Amino acid sequence: MEALKQKIREEGIVLSDQVLKVDAFLNHQIYPKLMQQVGHEFAERFRGQGITKIVTIEASGIAPAVMAGLELGVPVIFARKYQSLTLKENLYISKVFSFTKQSESTIAISAKHLTAADHVLVIDDFLANGHAAKALIDLIGQAGASVAGMGIVIEKSFQEGRGLLESEGYRVESLARVSSLANGQVTFVE
Ligand code: G4P
Ligand code: NA
Ligand code: NA
Repeated sequence: MEALKQKIREEGIVLSDQVLKVDAFLNHQIYPKLMQQVGHEFAERFRGQGITKIVTIEASGIAPAVMAGLELGVPVIFARKYQSLTLKENLYISKVFSFTKQSESTIAISAKHLTAADHVLVIDDFLANGHAAKALIDLIGQAGASVAGMGIVIEKSFQEGRGLLESEGYRVESLARVSSLANGQVTFVE
């Protein structure tokens, strides 16, 4: 998706060979018009697949997921990362290990919102090692629902997430695929 790649070139900051900072348009500030285009692109790629729900994870997955849900006309569920007073019973829960943070966290979705009748599009802002995606797939499986595929805003193709998901038979659609962050430069997959 050219507009997204352009934004990454203009406003992305290479923090290291492994990490791209995109607070300017994805992880902190959001341009609604760009996010709408992101949602449109996901919808184009997954239209006609019988998707009934979108599942993402708070916080940064929510904006692209909502825009895709608007285009596809389906509800969006965001897995919660924190325990809350109101989210207690009948939860599907899964553990995520974050390499970025070197810590394990628990994510949850209420059983009320996801059933075996659902066919789910998973959306997230980044795909790195695929741990978050795997945990979301696990939650969807607990509900007995099926997975239509993954929609990723920025994929770091030099990490193992895509390979892992594809090896398990999941379709991965990434709108920007970064092949390298070496030498402070963002290089995209051709
Ligand atoms: P993984 O799930 O693919 O294995 O990746 P990892 O554990 O490394 O991801 C942990 C968090 O860091 C996730 O956000 C993920 O989206 C984000 N992340 C991973 N690589 C990058 C990167 O190069 N740049 C940026 N900006 N983020 C990256 P999170 O902790 O769930 O935070 P948020 O959703 O509240 O933003
Ligand atoms: Na993130
Ligand atoms: Na995320």
